Amino acid sequence: MYVEISANDYHVLHPRPVYLIVSRSREGRLNVMPASWVSPVYDDPFLIAISVWSGSLTHDYISETGELTVNILSEKHAELAYKLGTESGRDVDKFKKYGLKPYPSKTILTPGLEGVLGFIECVVKDKLPVGESTLFICESKAIHVAKDFYEKYGWNLSKTSLLLHGAGKSFTVTGRLIRVPK
Ligand SMILES: Cc1cc2nc3c(=O)[nH]c(=O)nc-3n(C[C@H](O)[C@H](O)[C@H](O)COP(=O)(O)O)c2cc1C
Repeated sequence: MYVEISANDYHVLHPRPVYLIVSRSREGRLNVMPASWVSPVYDDPFLIAISVWSGSLTHDYISETGELTVNILSEKHAELAYKLGTESGRDVDKFKKYGLKPYPSKTILTPGLEGVLGFIECVVKDKLPVGESTLFICESKAIHVAKDFYEKYGWNLSKTSLLLHGAGKSFTVTGRLIRVPK
């Protein structure tokens, strides 16, 4: 037996991984915001769709330079992710306020972040208006991973956890590996 909930209750598709999106203005200013509406959409080339609200500074910067990095988070980043998503780079320099250190990219000018599990260098290939947001289709140009935690077929979840966003201030982490029989 089910109960019907609002057709707009997107939490039904949460928790979902949350990432930090680093973007850069034409003049070289950096900004960072968390995003959980991020999904792989093609594998060769590796394309990632990211839904970004048009009122955010991140939206302006991605539109200006066509570049961004997707930074992959673990449990220790929960509080940071929440705080970075509750203020705008329009009002505060979030790199300065939170002592974030850029990690140089190889193929683009927008850096990743030091201390994350890994990051993806992306260039925007396409975009689609969706309501008040834009769905940016981004192509991966280079991927960097913390070598102790990544192996063939992905993250070693016995050594690290990936951060997911539930709702508001609630986050969860990946915790249990399930292997199905052949
Ligand atoms: C956990 C979390 C996930 C979020 N996911 C998204 C998202 O996928 N897309 C989006 O546009 N905003 C998302 N937000 C909201 C932005 O991060 C927020 O509007 C931010 O303040 C924008 O910052 P900026 O103006 O510096 O770019 C999320 C916020 C939090 C806390």
